[in-house]
Amino acid sequence: MSENSNQDNKKKDNLDFELKTSSDSSAMLENQGLGKESSTNEGSLNSIHINDGTTGPYDSLREYMAAIETNGNVLRIKKMDQDSYEITGLMYKLVDKYGWLGAPTLIIEKVKVDGNWMEGPVIVNQYGLAGHEAMAVGVSINEINDNQVDNFKKALNHVMSMGEIKLIQPIEITKEDAPSKEIILKGDEINVLDFPFLKSNPGDNGRFINTGNLVTIDPEQGRNVGTYRMQIKGPRKIGINPEKGQDGWKFLMGMKEKGEKVAQAAVVLGTDPIVFAMSSSKTARTGQDELEFAGGFKGSPIEVVKCEDSEIRVPANVEMIIEGEIPLDDMEVEGPFGEMYGYMGLPHEEQFYMDIKTITHRKNPLFVNQFTGVTRGFITSPYEANSTMGLRKFIPEIVNFHGPPDLTGYFFISIDKQKPHQAMEVAEKLSFIPIAKIMIVVDKDVNVHNPREVLATVAARWQPHPNSKIIKEIESFRLDPSSQDRKSGSKIIIDATRQWPEENGPEPYPKMNREHLVEHDPEIFDWIEKKFKDLI
Ligand SMILES: Cc1cc2nc3c(=O)[nH]c(=O)nc-3n(C[C@H](O)[C@H](O)[C@H](O)COP(=O)(O)O)c2cc1C
Repeated sequence: MSENSNQDNKKKDNLDFELKTSSDSSAMLENQGLGKESSTNEGSLNSIHINDGTTGPYDSLREYMAAIETNGNVLRIKKMDQDSYEITGLMYKLVDKYGWLGAPTLIIEKVKVDGNWMEGPVIVNQYGLAGHEAMAVGVSINEINDNQVDNFKKALNHVMSMGEIKLIQPIEITKEDAPSKEIILKGDEINVLDFPFLKSNPGDNGRFINTGNLVTIDPEQGRNVGTYRMQIKGPRKIGINPEKGQDGWKFLMGMKEKGEKVAQAAVVLGTDPIVFAMSSSKTARTGQDELEFAGGFKGSPIEVVKCEDSEIRVPANVEMIIEGEIPLDDMEVEGPFGEMYGYMGLPHEEQFYMDIKTITHRKNPLFVNQFTGVTRGFITSPYEANSTMGLRKFIPEIVNFHGPPDLTGYFFISIDKQKPHQAMEVAEKLSFIPIAKIMIVVDKDVNVHNPREVLATVAARWQPHPNSKIIKEIESFRLDPSSQDRKSGSKIIIDATRQWPEENGPEPYPKMNREHLVEHDPEIFDWIEKKFKDLI
């Protein structure tokens, strides 16, 4: 047998995977300590209900994982060699095949990193599938189907139906009740390189903890929780990467300006889906506590626990808490890392780092790796619902907006158009949003959550002249690979609403073929769905 075919066989052996279905998952969950929390953590979890595959919101990442695995669309793989970038390669291929909103979650039990086989499980793409997102926010299981655009819409409508979120303060629990304190490591006992944190892409500058929620406290502004990647720089040293302008950056720079030498901080790993979504988005503004928003979205307070070495309170029901000090007078090179546009970022010449003092974690913790630019990083419906409701207060004609996660830079807005030139006015008001480089405004009949429908509308309803506006110089999104200095850029507004006669549109505007059909028989789609339900 040739060396090559030996290698082929070895690769095949590793591909020992199972696509989970509801019938065989319970035993597997128990083995992994994922499903039956109370039996693996005696006495410490009485505030957590066991989720048996019903809908969310969930109190922990474990509970969410157990629920989505019970409901399918989760691939469990025995072992994968990340030194050969197998997980990266597989994730790309799954997304190629099923799309960002449809690719399954992976649970990899063992991974090869830096030449060593390490115990996981490592979880990948746990927030990609829109059906999983619908579960995370509490859409009833029997409303979720395999149309992922529809599932996202259901998640969004569900969160919108909750109305304005009432903030709920976290409650503190004791160390004894906190699952994240089952194991406590101090000083030399710590080596983050022993945990299966991955190098996601050969272009990355090493292994990263890339789903950590950094918790910092500012004496005036209170707590900030933000998701930033952390480059592993040594057994007890990690980079801390809030981009300039992020709240995490402002907090640390604020402390530095006050003359502090170090900032106490904690990195929380494996937060529940809603806490993670708050930490990863601008739902809470500067000075607002992400954990109060998370409690509000969940309808119950987030449980927090005091850190070992500081007064910082962090989410308690998590997989791991890394505590340490961030020197404020010393910065280091950080990155590069494969960024959200799907292009390699630039290294930061000067970025913060943390000296780790203590790690506490669950027994057999779960590890999450985010393939940035390949898969969706967090559930976005709470942010989108909150922002849509907020924007409507100032711009009431907004029906929906959406930044498709797999098309970073596009920003779709639908409006209830009441007067000529209104689309351009709305887009101009929103043009301060750096990530919105290509702003497309459509009428309210267009589903902004379906990019194909938006693009078809652009082709049909948009005349490049005069229904476009180019803003020549404006702040660009810092990670935009086309910006020369990664600071400034330009943007385009595309008015793809039906142009009225006053806007030199055709008179009358042609009806869509589909409109003719519905006018002919308003019931047609209802009865077609009933009569041919097996075909649709
Ligand atoms: C998986 C993941 C990794 C992220 N990494 C970074 C990062 O390294 N730096 C950064 O500034 N933002 C990063 N973000 C985006 C921030 O989490 C997001 O902008 C958030 O609002 C920051 O919190 P803040 O507003 O409290 O600063 C990441 C988001 C996700 C989901």
